[in-house]
Amino acid sequence: MNVILLGPPGVGKGTIAAKLAGHFNYPQISTGDMLREAVKSKTKLGMDAKSCMDKGMLVPDSVVIGIVEERLKKPDCRKGVFLDGFPRTIAQAEALAKIIRIDKVINLQADDSVIIERLSGRRTCRKCMAIYHLVNIPPKKQGVCDKCKGELYQRVDDKQETIKKRLDTYRKQTEPLIGYYRKKKILVDIDGSMDVEGVLSAALNVLE
Ligand code: AP5
Repeated sequence: MNVILLGPPGVGKGTIAAKLAGHFNYPQISTGDMLREAVKSKTKLGMDAKSCMDKGMLVPDSVVIGIVEERLKKPDCRKGVFLDGFPRTIAQAEALAKIIRIDKVINLQADDSVIIERLSGRRTCRKCMAIYHLVNIPPKKQGVCDKCKGELYQRVDDKQETIKKRLDTYRKQTEPLIGYYRKKKILVDIDGSMDVEGVLSAALNVLE
């Protein structure tokens, strides 16, 4: 079973993908995490991607398709995968269709006010990339990851101006994927503004 988590920035794709991946024991493939890892390691890919990411723009299709294609060749992807943040454009969706069959697309939706509140309060672990929220999903100890004791930080692209730009990019380049997958009759809408348990149980109902 290969599943895509689709939706605007901050709607909860990463949070739900991590829980689903744990539940089904499939890998979670997050292009955002892969790119941030490359930025951290200062690889050529990371250096090239950083300026797009900091501005809330998409990294070029050819770059992202290349890294996802490589990742999907790994043996742990044979049973199934949860794709989080990919595809983001029709060109990426078409390239993906040539690599694997997609069985379901979970489309998470929420109002901009919910998204802005979630992104402004998000904190991410520098070490294991676990996601928290200052109010909704706080760590046990302020600033410290519950799982690996790594330092929690605020992403550069979670600043107010960049959030607006990311929402804009989403509307122009990613939202058309909703119609693309709806036509294929594999897309299911879920209200992303519910709490984590609510979203997770709706997603599990769809997948099980
Ligand atoms: P990426 O990391 O993919 O960012 P995004 O899509 O903007 O999504 P986010 O990670 O911001 O949000 P999310 O929906 O995963 O929400 P989360 O679970 O964290 O991409 C970053 C950048 O990389 C892009 O801008 C682009 O430059 C580049 N990039 C990545 N993929 C690319 C691609 N395919 N092509 C080209 N460029 C690409 O949750 C958000 C917050 O809300 C957290 O604090 C969380 O704790 C909280 N929360 C989550 N769910 C709930 C809930 N149900 N109730 C209450 N709080 C919740």
